[in-house]
Amino acid sequence: MALLFIAPDRNPDPWKEAFDKVDSNLDLFFWPAIDQHKKINFIVCWNHPARLLDRFPNLQAVASLGAGVDHILADECLPDHVQICRTLTPRLIQEMVDYVRTSLLMHQRNITFYLQQKRQARWKHRKNRIASDLEVGVMGLGTIGRKVALELGNEGYNVRGWSRSSKQIKKVSTFAGNKEKASFLEGLDALICLLPLTSETRGILDLEVFKQLKNDAILINIARGSHLVEEDLVYALDKGLLEWAMLDVFQKEPLPDHHSFWNRPEIVITPHIAGITPPEEAAEVIIENYKRAISGMDLKYTVQRDKGY
Ligand code: GLV
Repeated sequence: MALLFIAPDRNPDPWKEAFDKVDSNLDLFFWPAIDQHKKINFIVCWNHPARLLDRFPNLQAVASLGAGVDHILADECLPDHVQICRTLTPRLIQEMVDYVRTSLLMHQRNITFYLQQKRQARWKHRKNRIASDLEVGVMGLGTIGRKVALELGNEGYNVRGWSRSSKQIKKVSTFAGNKEKASFLEGLDALICLLPLTSETRGILDLEVFKQLKNDAILINIARGSHLVEEDLVYALDKGLLEWAMLDVFQKEPLPDHHSFWNRPEIVITPHIAGITPPEEAAEVIIENYKRAISGMDLKYTVQRDKGY
């Protein structure tokens, strides 16, 4: 029985230390240093290599090293019987909330406008806004989206939430499914995407959506780059259908050097850092799920493959 960690672009040292702190007797391997594939029952991965996950005959479960599982679900070689789960920790969720809060405060205090104005040595005032002036919409009300909506509601924003099936959240007006999507979007000042990436949500942030928001609205995408139709965002900015966008995720990461987004002052780019999985907290969740898997118990933060989240 053993756990395998596969994250080629992460420094393994803090992870080794964190796992060791939680359970120093764990049989733990760091890919590619593994002697026998049949020992492995549980894999935790991020950006794992293709054609790898079917090489472990005793694999029971695969955990994402983060909140999203699209990288695992997209791997066609993952055997059907293998369970999938995510790794959520309080710190990651708080970081996501903070990212949204930062973006909204930037909007309220016109920071991208003033940054552009500075380049032209211009001194012009713009109206300040406070939380209660804004209608903000959260797309996706899973664990993270729900927390973001709840916190924004507590801070005095007028919050709407949209999800596939109907949900109830204190101080949040909720909308469900395609039938209620237009009412959710109508006149929003800020649209925040926290959806899982599935065949239904790929490309959901498109021109039709942008047209329904206020003309000086912002888009905050902290879900996946493929939720966004990039040329529709550029068109919407060019036509004044949106004021600016705060993007943490991109179709191709790192964002290629020649990408047009780099030259747009109305697109703020962060390198997929909205919420980083912290080794100290994540090691506990991963080891708990590993122990659950090998003793045949239900996993925490499990994912339904047919739904994609
Ligand atoms: C980050 O994108 C994550 O899925 O945790």
